[in-house]
Amino acid sequence: MDCVLRTASPEDAGDLVALWREAAENSGRPPDTADAVTALLGRDPEAVILAEHDGVLIGSVIAGWDGWRYHLYRLAVRPGWRRRGVGAALLSAAERRLWDLGATRIDAMVLDDNDLGQNLWRASGYRRQDDWRRWVKMLLGAARPLTGRARDGWSGAGASPPALTWPWSPYGG
Ligand SMILES: CC(C)(COP(=O)(O)OP(=O)(O)OC[C@H]1O[C@@H](n2cnc3c(N)ncnc32)[C@H](O)[C@@H]1OP(=O)(O)O)[C@@H](O)C(=O)NCCC(=O)NCCS
Repeated sequence: MDCVLRTASPEDAGDLVALWREAAENSGRPPDTADAVTALLGRDPEAVILAEHDGVLIGSVIAGWDGWRYHLYRLAVRPGWRRRGVGAALLSAAERRLWDLGATRIDAMVLDDNDLGQNLWRASGYRRQDDWRRWVKMLLGAARPLTGRARDGWSGAGASPPALTWPWSPYGG
């Protein structure tokens, strides 16, 4: 199967969001936006890996390192391209990137009823961790525009850390 893997660039943001709308696990999370993808690539230009066939996007994965832990997101293959090894190839490339960054453990959030995803994780050596639950707090609405460093990019080494005020509330007041 003729499939090319490459790192995404900001020009791919719109196509990625369209792919995820069609092919990704989409329940229970804020909607993806092209601005958020562009911001991610501004902070970590190699975080998103694409699979293409004849220049057409057929799959993706985000291999994220937050400076502490190593996480995978948006592993998705277009329905017509599944069961041909594209997901496994993307996962392998993501693992290689995270290994090169120093990873000793990689994790992914997977919905309990996502059999498609669980099949691939299991086949790829991942194990469900039953003694943890994700705890979530929503900050304002899902449509919040990007601000600060998420919009403008991280200014790099030597920059002063942002001033913190406390108490702080996303709800104002
Ligand atoms: C999960 C997903 C990315 C897998 O992509 P894929 O390209 O079909 O995966 P691969 O062809 O590389 O499969 C690799 C292995 O995973 C397992 N696997 C994948 N899909 C499977 C299925 N439908 N049934 C059983 N096993 C499956 C098999 O062991 C397979 O190896 P094999 O084909 O040699 O038997 C794809 O199904 C998808 O996009 N699903 C929707 C989005 C999603 O749920 N992503 C995961 C979020 S946690």
